[in-house]
Amino acid sequence: MAIRNIREIGDPVLNKKCKEVTEVSERTLELIDDMFDTMYEADGVGLAAPQVGILKRIVTIDVTGEDPILLINPVILESSGEQRGNEGCLSVPGKTGIVTRPNYVKVQAYNENMEPFELEGTELLARAICHELEHLDGHLYVEKVEGELMNIADLEQEE
Ligand code: NI
Repeated sequence: MAIRNIREIGDPVLNKKCKEVTEVSERTLELIDDMFDTMYEADGVGLAAPQVGILKRIVTIDVTGEDPILLINPVILESSGEQRGNEGCLSVPGKTGIVTRPNYVKVQAYNENMEPFELEGTELLARAICHELEHLDGHLYVEKVEGELMNIADLEQEE
């Protein structure tokens, strides 16, 4: 177990397209463990491998804190509906912005044994899946923000 350094906006690794995983080696398993540790340590609901500097199509998600999801080579098969809400990213610390996403997605991915499976998600899980998959193609949510990117600290002061 190890906490890895989270790359932040401006780091060119975040704008690169990731490669498909062809084999889950010991090193890949270690990376996956570290991604979960790093995500939980940072209080995130999702993390993509490029955020720890690795250009592989691997994503970890946990929107409840007790439902870890690993997606290897994920592909969105279906999406529908719409949700508009605040989004944030561990690579853009202290910031949030409004992004419109589908309210439902169905994704196909592989588990750590390279067995394919399908997963459906709504609401926050659908949002997290869309957000994390975009990281694998070098995109950050800030490209999609409607209006201004806001400081989380400013929003908390207003409350
Ligand atoms: Ni992110």
